[in-house]
Amino acid sequence: MDQLKLNNGVKMPALGLGVFQTPPEETRDAVQAALSSGYRHIDTAAAYGNEREVGQAIAASGVDRGEVFVETKIWISDYGYDQTLHGFDKSAGKLGIDQIDLLILHQALPSEFDKTLEAYRALETMLEQGKVRAIGVSNFMVEHLDRLLEQAGVVPAVNQIEVHPYFQQREVQAFGAERGILTQAWSPIGGITFYRDGSQGSTLDDPTIGRIAQAHDKSPAQVMLRWHLQQGRSVIPKSTKPHRIAENIDVFDIELSADALAAIDALDTGRRGGPEPEDITLESFGRDIPEA
Ligand SMILES: NC(=O)c1ccc[n+]([C@@H]2O[C@H](COP(=O)([O-])OP(=O)(O)OC[C@H]3O[C@@H](n4cnc5c(N)ncnc54)[C@H](OP(=O)(O)O)[C@@H]3O)[C@@H](O)[C@H]2O)c1
Repeated sequence: MDQLKLNNGVKMPALGLGVFQTPPEETRDAVQAALSSGYRHIDTAAAYGNEREVGQAIAASGVDRGEVFVETKIWISDYGYDQTLHGFDKSAGKLGIDQIDLLILHQALPSEFDKTLEAYRALETMLEQGKVRAIGVSNFMVEHLDRLLEQAGVVPAVNQIEVHPYFQQREVQAFGAERGILTQAWSPIGGITFYRDGSQGSTLDDPTIGRIAQAHDKSPAQVMLRWHLQQGRSVIPKSTKPHRIAENIDVFDIELSADALAAIDALDTGRRGGPEPEDITLESFGRDIPEA
């Protein structure tokens, strides 16, 4: 498994399992299947409602806790300095662990950016205390990163954003890269293009990706994951199906050509699948995160 070095020297497996929309009752099996297939990185979130099951699966797996990179996210309802410190207690309590490998802010709250900054300051405190090994953000656009970096003492290690062939956010990626912020791709195989109705056609059915897949005797999902990895991004594909979980990590035996990478680069439509980051407010997206 390839490892990526974060800006504070911590190493993170380049490919992990995502568990967004994985129902709690299916999460243990999905995480167990992933660990059996060789995954050593799980991405969950307080807002996904399945941190407890992620922790249970890791504990029951027989894999050393120290070998598994656990990443989770603080939801916006827990922003603010004290609230975010307590957000750690909730997540760590459910996960059943004392230290979180990577703790990130799930969204910027553009209309209440002070709260976002306070939440980030709490992450910095916890980094200093050793409660977390690395800190970062998610869905931060250039202006959000700019405002954060004006105040922050620690540059975020990652920015987890929507990146797949149909929506690549190159400007955000480049801004991060210049400042040592690693881009972590959510919906890396374009899940948001096919699990949400009425959007833009599935990346899985894209003819260009299909042609490259055929040439390498791989699946479209594998080609997309390889495209990310060769461009230096972290990926966290989600599946609840053991055969797909295994398929998605079986991507370290091919190398896409520069032409193939460029052909996938050219598929960008500029159309976002997820919510507009600027529109995230507590009124529309706030929700209570239960205690551990
Ligand atoms: N920070 C954020 O705001 C944010 C937002 C969205 C996602 N995320 C993170 O990113 C992770 C991945 O994103 P995502 O779940 O949106 O999308 P994704 O990983 O790109 O795609 C997941 C979808 O693809 C299917 N799938 C998985 N492997 C496949 C394969 N080999 N062939 C065909 N279909 C396959 C899955 O179905 P089955 O499960 O039925 O296999 C699911 O419908 C999430 O789980 C979460 O951890 C973060």
